[in-house]
Amino acid sequence: MSGKTVLVSGGAGYIGSHTCVELLNAGYEVICVDDLRNSKEQVMERIERITGKQPIFFRIDLCNYDALDRVFHSYKIDAVIHFAGLKAVGESVEKPLEYYSNNLNATINLLRCMELYGVNKIVFSSSATVYGNPKTVPITEDADRWCTNPYGWTKYMSEQIISDWCVANKDASAMLLRYFNPIGAHKSGLIGEDPNGIPNNLLPYICQVSAGKLEYLRVYGDDYDTPDGTGVRDYIHVVDLARGHINALKYLDGASGCECVNLGTGVGYSVLEVVKAYSEACGKEIPYKIVGRRAGDIATCYAATDKARELLNWQAELNLHDMCASAYNWQCKNPNGYEQ
Ligand code: NAD
Ligand code: UD1
Repeated sequence: MSGKTVLVSGGAGYIGSHTCVELLNAGYEVICVDDLRNSKEQVMERIERITGKQPIFFRIDLCNYDALDRVFHSYKIDAVIHFAGLKAVGESVEKPLEYYSNNLNATINLLRCMELYGVNKIVFSSSATVYGNPKTVPITEDADRWCTNPYGWTKYMSEQIISDWCVANKDASAMLLRYFNPIGAHKSGLIGEDPNGIPNNLLPYICQVSAGKLEYLRVYGDDYDTPDGTGVRDYIHVVDLARGHINALKYLDGASGCECVNLGTGVGYSVLEVVKAYSEACGKEIPYKIVGRRAGDIATCYAATDKARELLNWQAELNLHDMCASAYNWQCKNPNGYEQ
């Protein structure tokens, strides 16, 4: 599909920006639609510095159907990659209506435009969160799904909406990508994760400890049924994840119907293993204290990766050291994120 035009919703965000880089490098034209509610416009210029090309950028709220329609009306779009959405689990519990309204309306408006303008291919950012507390690991795509917070339900419901849309539109094809724990940054250090306020997720928190912005890491529980008692997750380098979207687009080229695929490495690391790997990558101790468990956390979560290999011909290539070293590089070069 290279040479074709891909509309990337949420393309200014963490995963979206890395995917724009891979798309441009692979020869796609990229139209990025983002209202910048959780990202910065400087990202577009950084993408150009990496690739020599800039995406066409529209600052649009996907919930504004008419504005989105104008973009579809103006360009011949071959496929959509849909990243845009709110993603903070805790916030979704506090503001469920905002999460359902934004995440579901964004998905529906995109599909309505796709239907109207005959765009048949969509790749959707889903999450391992749809598996809830898994009965067994590694988690296969046919495992039971159940969510424990509104954010998760928006992913579950968006998957259902997209799947139903594929049933109704015989030419449509969709790939629901269930990400495990994306971390790390582009090797240039020009783009990376730039969370607002105090980070909730492990790696951004460790980055800020390494930069001296936060005093120490709180390790949420060392009494899980895991080798060292701390939570085990499948961390995946964001550049590997971004590459997976190119493979998904290629797959959709000859496909019909709706498929779901895990994007993970298949390997689980504990919180303390991540702390050790990050310390080695940055050459500094990361101070931490063991505290109580975080509500809603599970012990162990990692992906079965066979389906990604078989269907998408994709597997993760970068290891935990690469993830930590690139995150540290981004942190050092951008101590205040995209704000200089
Ligand atoms: P992000 O917040 O960095 O990027 C999302 C982008 O969407 C932001 O730039 C934001 O401004 C934009 N956006 C949100 N609502 C919008 C709207 N109504 N109209 C236009 N733009 C809007 O998040 P990310 O980490 O890059 O995640 C991308 C996607 O992947 C999200 O759907 C997220 O739920 C999913 N996901 C992320 C993770 C993760 O750990 N980062 C894990 C699993 C799934
Ligand atoms: C979180 C989300 C999940 C989302 C995923 C994507 C929650 C409950 N779940 O998953 O829906 O798909 O991000 O990245 O928010 N930890 C600490 N100290 C910290 C932060 C985290 O010990 O300051 C531990 C956690 O207990 C967990 C591990 O680090 O064991 C990873 O946590 P995190 O990065 O927040 O990701 P998840 O909880 O897996």
